[in-house]
Amino acid sequence: MIRFASTDSRRETGNIKWDLQGPIPFGIADMDIESPPCVVEALQRRLNHHFYGYAYMTDELREAICAYLRNRHGVSEIRPEWLHELPGCVPAFTLVARTVCHRPEHEVLVCTPVYPPMLHCHEDARCRLLRVPYANRDGLWTFDWEAMEAAVTPNTRLFLLCNPHNPLGRVWRRDELEKVADFCERHDLILCSDEIHCDLVLDEGLQHQCSLTLPEPLLQRVVMLSAPSKTFNIAGICFTYMAVPNAALRAAIRKTQGHSLPTLNVFAYAASLAAYTQGWEWHEQLIRSLRANRQTVYDYIAEHLPMLKTRHQEATYLAWIDCSALGVESPHEFFLEKADVYLDNGANFGSPQCVRLNFATSPELLRMGLDAMRDAVNALLAERV
Ligand SMILES: Cc1ncc(COP(=O)(O)O)c(C=O)c1O
Repeated sequence: MIRFASTDSRRETGNIKWDLQGPIPFGIADMDIESPPCVVEALQRRLNHHFYGYAYMTDELREAICAYLRNRHGVSEIRPEWLHELPGCVPAFTLVARTVCHRPEHEVLVCTPVYPPMLHCHEDARCRLLRVPYANRDGLWTFDWEAMEAAVTPNTRLFLLCNPHNPLGRVWRRDELEKVADFCERHDLILCSDEIHCDLVLDEGLQHQCSLTLPEPLLQRVVMLSAPSKTFNIAGICFTYMAVPNAALRAAIRKTQGHSLPTLNVFAYAASLAAYTQGWEWHEQLIRSLRANRQTVYDYIAEHLPMLKTRHQEATYLAWIDCSALGVESPHEFFLEKADVYLDNGANFGSPQCVRLNFATSPELLRMGLDAMRDAVNALLAERV
């Protein structure tokens, strides 16, 4: 059963969204939905054990992740030893960039807009960033192949892909993934595919394309990142994994990591095992709720906020909204100041005139936030008359 948090019940719990994002927080990828009962029960069982010493990723969890990748994402070849656990995807970007781009002239290629930390891992790796904007073709965001070919250089070493895409909500089709892989092969790039939103495909009939389904020899240049954190709303529990089929690359990444990250916590493992093995009925209901909220956002914007532009969001609970027609310097600041609604700032993703709205909240709060946005826009338009 999906249980939404009642308004304000998450305040003062040390939660970034609810404590730091003002009265109506529609930022950061954290759902106002309780984690599945199977996860809560697994955590309670682990808590009741009363011993919380050093933990490791057991064979049982490795097998559960492999089974999940086989059964839900059509990965025919996956081995438990390809998996490497990490406390987050964000440190994984840095780790991969530092492994692959080890000279200052090396370059990371990223298409924009994109999840902000992808635009910064080159700073940790002390190398360079190449940004190529996505193209808008017939109302659908896609890769700008010509611009990518023009941007890539012999120093480019890494292509960071967000798959499915945050914030554009695209579920890359098979041909797009294959073209990305071919691009990486031709330019000798490592393909790091962040698939943390892979279980949040909202459109019926669309299938996430996992980079681990690429054939050899392309598979040898893949680093796939994923986690149960977005799907089951357990980001604060901090468990991510990478799957690296190439043994030499896997060893190099582990060597780069060295002793720089801690072992993960006992609760992360307990929650992840329960989620992957028992969480799928809950997940079906989650997808239905998210689809309903997505529709609410579309309908509301079409009816009451036609100046704001959305495109069809195939995946994720994060709506990407173009506010250019409002004519304000920062739509993020505008909605925060005039509507008390916190929306993620598009400037951080590479598109200052956009905002990102997290609609994984109760229908009541969603409606309240949208009403406040409508009132703020109407007041702005009235001032201009
Ligand atoms: C595309 C993407 N990657 C990674 C993350 C964060 O991953 P982690 O919490 O494992 O660092 C997010 C969180 O919103 C995300 O949207």
